[in-house]
Amino acid sequence: MEKKMLFPRVGGFLHGGDYNPEQWLDRPDILEEDVRLMKKAGINSVTLGVFSWAVYEPAEGEFHFEWLEEIMDRLYANGIYTVLATPSGARPAWLDAAYPEAMRVSSRGVRNHHGGRHNHCMSSPKYREKVAIIDRKLAERFGKHPGLLMWHISNEFSGMCFCPICVKRFQEYLEKKFDHDIEKLNHAWWTTFWSHHYNSFEQIEPPYENGERSVLGLNLEWQRFTSWNTDDFMNHEIRVLKDITPEIPVTANFMELFGGLDYQKMAGSLDVISWDSYPRFHNDYESFQDTMFRNAFQHGVMRSLKPGKPFMLMESTPSLVNWHPYNKLKRPGVHKLASLQAVACGSDTVQYFQWRKGRGSAEQFHGAVVDHNGSEDTRVFRDVAELGEILGRIAPVVGTVVRTRAALIFDWDNRWAIHDAQAFGGQSKQYEETCMKIWLEFHKMGVEMDILRSDTDLEGYDLAVVPMLFMLQKGTAENLIRFVKKGGQLLATYCTGYVDEDQLCYLGGFPGDGLSDLFGIVDEEIDTLYPSDRNRIVFPDGTEWEVRDYAELLRVKDARILGTYGDDFYEGTPALTCKEYPVDTSAGQAGTPAGQAGSLADQPGTSAGSAGPSAGRAYYLAARCSTAQMRSLFLQMLRDAGIPTEDLPEGVDHHVRYGEEGTYDFYLNYNTEPVTLSGVKGLELISGERAEGALELGRYGVAVVRR
Ligand code: GLA
Ligand code: ZN
Repeated sequence: MEKKMLFPRVGGFLHGGDYNPEQWLDRPDILEEDVRLMKKAGINSVTLGVFSWAVYEPAEGEFHFEWLEEIMDRLYANGIYTVLATPSGARPAWLDAAYPEAMRVSSRGVRNHHGGRHNHCMSSPKYREKVAIIDRKLAERFGKHPGLLMWHISNEFSGMCFCPICVKRFQEYLEKKFDHDIEKLNHAWWTTFWSHHYNSFEQIEPPYENGERSVLGLNLEWQRFTSWNTDDFMNHEIRVLKDITPEIPVTANFMELFGGLDYQKMAGSLDVISWDSYPRFHNDYESFQDTMFRNAFQHGVMRSLKPGKPFMLMESTPSLVNWHPYNKLKRPGVHKLASLQAVACGSDTVQYFQWRKGRGSAEQFHGAVVDHNGSEDTRVFRDVAELGEILGRIAPVVGTVVRTRAALIFDWDNRWAIHDAQAFGGQSKQYEETCMKIWLEFHKMGVEMDILRSDTDLEGYDLAVVPMLFMLQKGTAENLIRFVKKGGQLLATYCTGYVDEDQLCYLGGFPGDGLSDLFGIVDEEIDTLYPSDRNRIVFPDGTEWEVRDYAELLRVKDARILGTYGDDFYEGTPALTCKEYPVDTSAGQAGTPAGQAGSLADQPGTSAGSAGPSAGRAYYLAARCSTAQMRSLFLQMLRDAGIPTEDLPEGVDHHVRYGEEGTYDFYLNYNTEPVTLSGVKGLELISGERAEGALELGRYGVAVVRR
């Protein structure tokens, strides 16, 4: 498998982070010391200029880049590359004073005052003009600099603007989307409800907090518009840079499961995915293992934005942050563990916020490699330096990728729709959590899953789980049907296929758009349970799964019933079903008659390693169950898909990266106690020793084994 090097020039991992020399221009001694310390810590890249606009352009049209040039030169001379940011994430005071339209308007229609960051209007032509000027100057001045590795667009895009320019753009966006036909919009948004009919696009306002919030189609389109408009703003910046430096890759740093922007769509505008990871280590509400495993899911989400390519851990803290409710230090060993977890999950960088703590303002106490004491003789500095060395030892991993034949469907549009739907339980929808738990259950069986938007063509995958896909995009149902008919193992759950892409309910039985036929069932009602309510799914072999939160009442058309409810007025009715689609009729074993009850163990299936599945299967699970109990179903699906599983000790995480010259197994121990793994053979890159079967991982230990 060919390597996908993000930075062929570097030939190793990027190890570095946000560096703000502009805060220290009056301290040349410190700037010089920084370079010495960076080399000592094994730093080979820094991210510059994220918030440097006021230093670049202290007054309109007056530019100063000499300082940056000097710094980039010196860094490069010392083997340190630059990721250069565009400064649009925060504006100088003169800009807002001269062009107030750059300042965002809140959801109550009130213009912000100057200040803060990440709060510009995405539409303002003046702001776009000013951003283009500064971006162009940066590209012209530094585009050919040998130290320039990549462009970092703005910073952590987020938020909405309700200003008149944005409102106008929203109306134009809608006009285009609905073919200039207001009645098309009225129909899609079901505006006859509460007399909310629009006569023209000019009447449409965004969902102001003190305005229209009951038209779900409006809310959804406003989300989509904001995401589209942010992407458009980002592309405005990218175009300027690509015009001058087409060969320099671009990224924008994303945030953990951020709901405000459709990252799956924005990913298409970027060359490389990068994200900022700040888990709450050692908190008081979950185990450390849980924190780490949940973080693996977050990496999985980001990696899957461009499957088959490494991503970047753009920010992480070397010690603590300053914005969690409680800012706890990472315990010894955790810096190495969390950083190598990112690498295990597919990152080719470990980067920090921030290199050196500033003296004042809001982030003065945010963790950094270099503290206010300026010393290299600190626990944190030593941790970082140790990691720098380890990254050097495991450098052959760079450019290798994660690959899998299993997929989890997780979708931003669906997030917006399901959370806005006035239905189900207020607290118990937990769409993201539900997806994560399923992903983790597979992961703990040694199965990696790509996390994909719902209209992805599933060619190349053999197993897919579709949890709570309330909203179907155009093409989603078709993809799923094709997937099963070609032999895919598919599981969908309660809350699937209720509404179309405009959030209009399907008529004629859920799940809509042909999925009711695919699964051979109709979901007729959904029972939302109170938190203390329980039901059960009972199976013919006597096993039971506990049901919480949601239970749908199914009418079976032509599926096999695998399990039925154990309690309440719907006791005995179907809760888990399967409909089979023989792929190769000569195999002659698929196609059990509909309606016949059977246990999971009775399922016909191909054994792992055979030529291919004899039948595609469409499972429908009508209720929320614990993923641990669902394991038997997952294992059955994996067997039928021919995907191997493994038994890992509790709290041990295993990821694999594939490359042309070898396969790299990452084993991470999230326990404070040592564990011994068996059957591990190959060269362990961190110690340089060969593993011949047994491999011991110490407290929070990590091993990287080349098979
Ligand atoms: C974000 C920002 C950084 C910094 C860190 C602090 O990720 O991008 O500028 O504020 O948070 O954790
Ligand atoms: Zn605006």
